[in-house]
Amino acid sequence: MSMQSKEVDERLKAIKEEEKMISARMNKVKHKIAVMSGKGGVGKSVVTANLAASFAVHGHLVGILDADIHGPSIPKLLDIRGQMLQAGPPGIFPVFGPLRMKIVSMDFLLPSDETPVIWRGPLKMGAIKQFLSEVVWGPLDYLLIDLPPGTGDEPLSIAQLIPRLDGVIIVTIPSEVSQIVVKRSVGFARRVGLKVIGLIENMSTFTCPNCGQKYDIFGSGGGRKIAEELKVPFLGSIPLDPRISEDSDKGTPFIINHPESNATKAFEQIVERIKETINIH
Ligand SMILES: Nc1ncnc2c1ncn2[C@@H]1O[C@H](COP(=O)(O)OP(=O)(O)O)[C@@H](O)[C@H]1O
Ligand SMILES: [Mg+2]
Repeated sequence: MSMQSKEVDERLKAIKEEEKMISARMNKVKHKIAVMSGKGGVGKSVVTANLAASFAVHGHLVGILDADIHGPSIPKLLDIRGQMLQAGPPGIFPVFGPLRMKIVSMDFLLPSDETPVIWRGPLKMGAIKQFLSEVVWGPLDYLLIDLPPGTGDEPLSIAQLIPRLDGVIIVTIPSEVSQIVVKRSVGFARRVGLKVIGLIENMSTFTCPNCGQKYDIFGSGGGRKIAEELKVPFLGSIPLDPRISEDSDKGTPFIINHPESNATKAFEQIVERIKETINIH
């Protein structure tokens, strides 16, 4: 056997091993859901954190993979920044967040706030691979994956690496600029063969807490309209509520801090629709 083909054989063997590891880890996770958006700042991470908390409140075992390599924000939203990922013989252990949620994020690997992650595609793919193959997620009911905006390397890696991903949820806001990019996300999901579980409209109608007057700051109904147009399920609207951003900054999940609010009810309804769409009763 020539040197070259031996090398190729070894590389193929290593890839097979890694795939086997990912399969073994992911087989213990009942449902894997990726959260995407066309653009940034639409509340994708906040929605991911609150959906996860909502699943956890109902007694499910939940993990969040923060796959936003350049802008990891899940640890901040759950007030667990500054912790380190610990490794042992079985692998890398996730950090526990509120409600015993298991969290893995690039943020746990960065020495300071000023450290930018200047990585290209293959390195990012490598990090995501490790988060899947080496992290001891253990048995989980739901693993939510918070992706960076757009259709770059991270969503592609997730689509390629996670076996039997239930599908993707796309977060948008009612404004037209956000609607245009939703089409790209749906197009991406279809291209890579992922099911679109549905669309969530975030930052929808704001109700003034003093006078009850309703304001459509970014417009209204855009989410449902685009979902119909693209023939994907509409999962629901989450109102614009300053308390959501306050709680996010404080690192307490909004749905725990404000269980009686309309926004929490919206999150709960969306969780029900997600369960229906991925066939859990
Ligand atoms: N429904 C909402 N009402 C008020 N503020 C929100 C809402 N959803 C998100 N935010 C705020 O909007 C900003 C962007 O949210 P983030 O989740 O970081 O967006 P993305 O992950 O899409 O970039 C944050 O300051 C967050 O607290
Ligand atoms: Mg984000």
